[in-house]
Amino acid sequence: NYWTTDRLNRGYHEWPKQRLTDLKAKVARSKWRLGYHVQTRTGLLNDPNGFSYFNHQWHLFYQAFPFGAVHGLKSWTHLVSDDLVNWKNVHKPMIPDRSNDRNGCYSGSAIPVGDRLFLMYTGNIWDKHHHRQAKQDGAWMDKDNDITKLQRPLINQPPLEVTGNFRDPQIIKHGLYYYAILGAQTEGNRGEIVVYRSQSVDHGWNLFKTMDIGNDNLGYMVECPNLVFIHNHPVIIFCPQGIDRKRLNYQNRYPNAYIAGDSMNWNQMKIINPTKIRLMDYGFDFYATRSFNAPDGRALSISWVGMPGVEYATDSEGWSGALTLVRELDLKDGQLIQRPARENRKLFVHDLKAVNGMEIPKQCYIKWVPNIDRLSQMAITAETSHLYFSIDQKGHRLSIHRQNLSGNEEIRQVRINKDVIHSCALYFDNSEFEVYINGGVRTMTGRFFRNGHVLNLNWTDCNSVTVKQLKPININ
Ligand code: FRU
Repeated sequence: NYWTTDRLNRGYHEWPKQRLTDLKAKVARSKWRLGYHVQTRTGLLNDPNGFSYFNHQWHLFYQAFPFGAVHGLKSWTHLVSDDLVNWKNVHKPMIPDRSNDRNGCYSGSAIPVGDRLFLMYTGNIWDKHHHRQAKQDGAWMDKDNDITKLQRPLINQPPLEVTGNFRDPQIIKHGLYYYAILGAQTEGNRGEIVVYRSQSVDHGWNLFKTMDIGNDNLGYMVECPNLVFIHNHPVIIFCPQGIDRKRLNYQNRYPNAYIAGDSMNWNQMKIINPTKIRLMDYGFDFYATRSFNAPDGRALSISWVGMPGVEYATDSEGWSGALTLVRELDLKDGQLIQRPARENRKLFVHDLKAVNGMEIPKQCYIKWVPNIDRLSQMAITAETSHLYFSIDQKGHRLSIHRQNLSGNEEIRQVRINKDVIHSCALYFDNSEFEVYINGGVRTMTGRFFRNGHVLNLNWTDCNSVTVKQLKPININ
């Protein structure tokens, strides 16, 4: 095996330049590159980090290991955008180069303060007994996108009764205080959301509370918690690993969930009148959502279209991982509504004539209105592979059958009980798809690795089908 512990942890400057050159050449031959979703140039991408607006631009970072499609030593790759659609690599990543983050710059967030952007992230450390330690570190970024790390951690160790699984701080400001919302695992093996507080963003952080989200059964570990506000209602988005499938009916290895509420009691760090816990997405690959309130008040989110511990067909090509489109979040009756951010309309090029059996381009948008008295079906096929969407005869359940180039057919399902499924909008991008059901009341996201080159579209029992060409803009 090429990936020895030594190579997984090798410092960034110790890699020969040739490594990236070789990987780029390999990636260039991939047939699964995306057209309008964020993807890596080489190596692995996982969580989105530091999604923010600063210095008249959108900023987005992601967890990266550029030297191979494995979870090696993590850094933050930095992208900027003027429109949330076209993203440019700044080529000034934040790499692990301190004792405080020596085994990885793990996930975190960013917040503008004065004329700088403050980054808070987890410094991952393996001690000599091979136990995980976590420091919460800080850095300032100036208007030239130069990042200067703080000398000392902001939070040097986990609180009592929390293990070294303590990470992914989200900074959010309210009143006089900054709050850092962190995912944690207790000594008793329970997942928790822990909150620190300070009046200054770069020092003076103290343990404040365990967040009360009305649900104290959050599996064995919470990753990537984010608190956002929609019409003044709090929504906590998080990944409760190992949560009981009777409490949250998820089909993937790990879930990405949310709880909404009426209001936030900041003194108690309590969500008032919380909804039940729900999945954020019902597809195959969706994790580590990062969300924040933009200056215009919108709650924007972006997620990793991937899953920890899952292998992908591109791994052998030296790259893996992609992100969703930026989504705009809304709330209706305590349920999250997700739509592609309106800026994504730019992606639309022109209508294609929708003909059953047609060949579709690798970047396209397909919207269909099912005939809900029948078994309505939509299928994208390529040789022996397919993505097949079917809606049951009562119109309440959508199933996606995915047959990748190798392997068995896998199924994901979503139910809408109080309504029927009246529309599905599919954003297709070569090897990634996002489905928005009933205007974003439910979403299903995943990768699709086909056989062959030609993609065909077939359907039965749809009242209408619209197909539009989308623009490949090649982000990386
Ligand atoms: C989630 C996660 C985070 C961690 C990061 C490391 O996918 O495990 O909890 O900070 O990935 O890359």
